[in-house]
Amino acid sequence: MSAIVHCFPDEEAPAQRLADALGLSLGVVQTHRFPDGEMLPRVPEAAHTVIAYRSLDRPDVKLMELLLAADAWRRRGATRLVLAAPYLCYMRQDAVFNAGEPLSQGVVAGLLARSFDRIVTVDAHLHRTRGIEDLPGPARWSNLPAAPAIAAYLTPRMTGKQTLVVGPDSESGAWTSSLADLLGLPFVTLSKTRVTDTSVVLALPADVQCNNRQVVLVDDICSSGGTMGAAVALLAERGADPIDIVVTHALFDDEVRLRLIKAGARTIVSTDSCASDAAMIPLAGVLADALAEETSR
Ligand code: R5P
Repeated sequence: MSAIVHCFPDEEAPAQRLADALGLSLGVVQTHRFPDGEMLPRVPEAAHTVIAYRSLDRPDVKLMELLLAADAWRRRGATRLVLAAPYLCYMRQDAVFNAGEPLSQGVVAGLLARSFDRIVTVDAHLHRTRGIEDLPGPARWSNLPAAPAIAAYLTPRMTGKQTLVVGPDSESGAWTSSLADLLGLPFVTLSKTRVTDTSVVLALPADVQCNNRQVVLVDDICSSGGTMGAAVALLAERGADPIDIVVTHALFDDEVRLRLIKAGARTIVSTDSCASDAAMIPLAGVLADALAEETSR
């Protein structure tokens, strides 16, 4: 066997979907935690190429596990390590915004790039970084769009009420416009001023007609739900109905999801990059298309 997919126990379901899409078998890394909190991964038998499936939400524990496992895969004889990380952590701090802060993006990307030969992610949160290829080497980085998988999910769910695709801030423009293009729909982005980590102020141009119109609110990340909550309130006030939320990465808990529904969202769905009750859109196809070349090396 020249390639195999490995995952950690909590991500067996999406990793199995990826392995199936690639026609590869799946091995599960066992993890042992010592009483003092340190952990020890034990990787199963490797192959020439190991595709490690590990989404990097809740990153502080996952990163350490992954870096240790990468060493173990090499010791098991893997000569090519490919990381499939649908969510890539620590991309927000892509600049030193205030004196005394680190450049977290560079630190974390550098650690991963020294352990893996290739890193594949989806809708990476790159605001000031021009492209994923600007992240540190020597690894080859690939940033895949979730829009085709999201469009396939949404298409049969369009209500035909002159649907408008809305992004909550100018930074979401790229995701919003590519999804709108695939759906053949118009789009608009709101303007956003962040007040605190969990609250924002949004504005929608006065000439945008929302009344009795289906709105699909789209973003790369929903975390505290502050952005989406404010967007739902604003759009509902302007008469939008129904309002459906779709995000690539659901970094929230169920409390946030229920709060958004209570605020007026009809549905909130995400890809399966992070485990949540909203994770309805599998990324296995998108990842497998990019990783197919790894199976024939
Ligand atoms: C910001 O640039 C991102 O695209 C999201 O809008 C943001 O991370 C959402 O965070 P929250 O859910 O905490 O408002």
